[in-house]
Amino acid sequence: MSEIENEQVAREANEEHIADIILPHQTNGYGTMFGGDVMALMDKAASIASLRFCRQPVVTASSERIDFRAPIGQGEIIEAFSRVIFVGRTSMVVRVRIYGEHPLLGDRRICTKGYFSMVVITRDGVHPRPLPQLLLPDDEARAEYVVGEEIHQAIIARRQR
Ligand SMILES: CC(C)(COP(=O)(O)OP(=O)(O)OC[C@H]1O[C@@H](n2cnc3c(N)ncnc32)[C@H](O)[C@@H]1OP(=O)(O)O)[C@@H](O)C(=O)NCCC(=O)NCCS
Repeated sequence: MSEIENEQVAREANEEHIADIILPHQTNGYGTMFGGDVMALMDKAASIASLRFCRQPVVTASSERIDFRAPIGQGEIIEAFSRVIFVGRTSMVVRVRIYGEHPLLGDRRICTKGYFSMVVITRDGVHPRPLPQLLLPDDEARAEYVVGEEIHQAIIARRQR
């Protein structure tokens, strides 16, 4: 596909999903999940969402605001949901939500929410193709786009300082 053809592609971003179970070595002294391991899962989830959206090599440029709202205990099921919410020239803002679930009771609660900036890189002399345009099919996608755009603008302002 030529660059021009690719530039004309517009697509929706899917909600991607990873599930895992919290093992003892992932916990801190309180028996709840170590924050660094939560962030590692979030980074993976952001990578998957951006790769599936653009099908080009990407790296994590930044983790943006991450709020740890509730702990996840050892033996609980952890789930990450990630989606590209904003597309710039060569970067994407990805939103990641983390849920904790009691394995026996099945009750699920949001534990962490965060945003990542993922950037397409040049590899082996192959220049990045223009990113697909992001289709915004519903109110939720449109609302998240506004948040993603604010994050992208904050990144630009931060880099100029
Ligand atoms: C991310 C990286 C490729 C940016 O390279 P760069 O030459 O500074 O990029 P540019 O100035 O051309 O900007 C390219 C895009 O990246 C974004 N970007 C650059 N630095 C950024 C940062 N620190 N945080 C967030 N976004 C950033 C820019 O906003 C720009 O987005 P746009 O094209 O949509 O407007 C480079 O800094 C890098 O390779 N970092 C290391 C990545 C890494 O190793 N990650 C961990 C393992 S995956």
